[in-house]
Amino acid sequence: MFTNQTVIITGAGRGIGAAAARLFAERGAAVVVNDLNAEPAEETANAITQAGGQAIAVPGSVTDPAFPDKLMQAAADTFGAIHILVNNAGYTWDGMIHKMTDEQWQAILEVHASAPFRMIRAVAPYLREAAQAEKEAGQPFSNRCVVNVSSTSGLHGNIGQGNYATGKMGIVGLTKTVAKEWGYLGIRCNAVAFGYIDTRLTRTKEVQEEAIDIDGHEIVLGIPQKVRALLDANIEQRIPLGRAATAEEAAGGIVLLASPLAQYITGHVLEVTGGMGI
Ligand SMILES: NC(=O)c1ccc[n+]([C@@H]2O[C@H](COP(=O)([O-])OP(=O)(O)OC[C@H]3O[C@@H](n4cnc5c(N)ncnc54)[C@H](O)[C@@H]3O)[C@@H](O)[C@H]2O)c1
Repeated sequence: MFTNQTVIITGAGRGIGAAAARLFAERGAAVVVNDLNAEPAEETANAITQAGGQAIAVPGSVTDPAFPDKLMQAAADTFGAIHILVNNAGYTWDGMIHKMTDEQWQAILEVHASAPFRMIRAVAPYLREAAQAEKEAGQPFSNRCVVNVSSTSGLHGNIGQGNYATGKMGIVGLTKTVAKEWGYLGIRCNAVAFGYIDTRLTRTKEVQEEAIDIDGHEIVLGIPQKVRALLDANIEQRIPLGRAATAEEAAGGIVLLASPLAQYITGHVLEVTGGMGI
């Protein structure tokens, strides 16, 4: 399905991004695995190559303004062309609005809105010039697209996530704008809005003891035990499918939108939620 296609996935060292990297590779794509943390990025890429696929790890922070160009260059140098960009990297740094610091607000807007914007700007020449050449030669367009990761917090708001909800709604506006600007070149841009996916972002904070280091600042990840218990108590009322998704199920939504079978789908936000919120 993705033979001779190169996909770049940010935040693919673990969770949904890592699962997407494996799914793309199993379907023939060459995968560029980015993550803030080098070790998990290399683990994801190595697992793919050991299984007979093609992958490289390009560690680095998507919030470093110089990084997107380096990432695109590494992808093009290794695999020759770029076809698909998945803006997946991210984390949460929750707090009620009346207590939220400027630093907390800016950091989350940076990773969920500004970084995807810079990434899309950096991939533009690779996607657009190749498409333009096909157009001029009178050839059909190859499959080229961007998939952005949003959240139900962005679509509906969520208590304690004013910063995250703003970033995740912002990416929806960016998605629709790219779809309108690049559609004449056959380049699609869609988003997936995830609900409750079982990763370290949604597991019980006090039990898992996971943290992310952002510029020397340790941010503890996960949902507080009391909130997690409340959410789980009525899970069947909240989610028609009655459970959280696995990272693989979530990644399926990304791969679906990136696939050539979705070639007439653009500017769409696919809710991958088990029916939550319908
Ligand atoms: N888990 C959920 O229920 C859920 C719901 C809605 C949306 N999402 C979104 O899905 C995406 C993936 O999250 P996940 O649940 O797989 O979490 P995860 O923590 O398992 O994976 C996210 C990865 O992104 C990386 N990352 C974070 N900041 C980065 C940066 N600046 N540069 C490069 N890499 C960076 C992390 O190191 C991590 O490996 C995120 O955008 C998240 O907001 C998740």
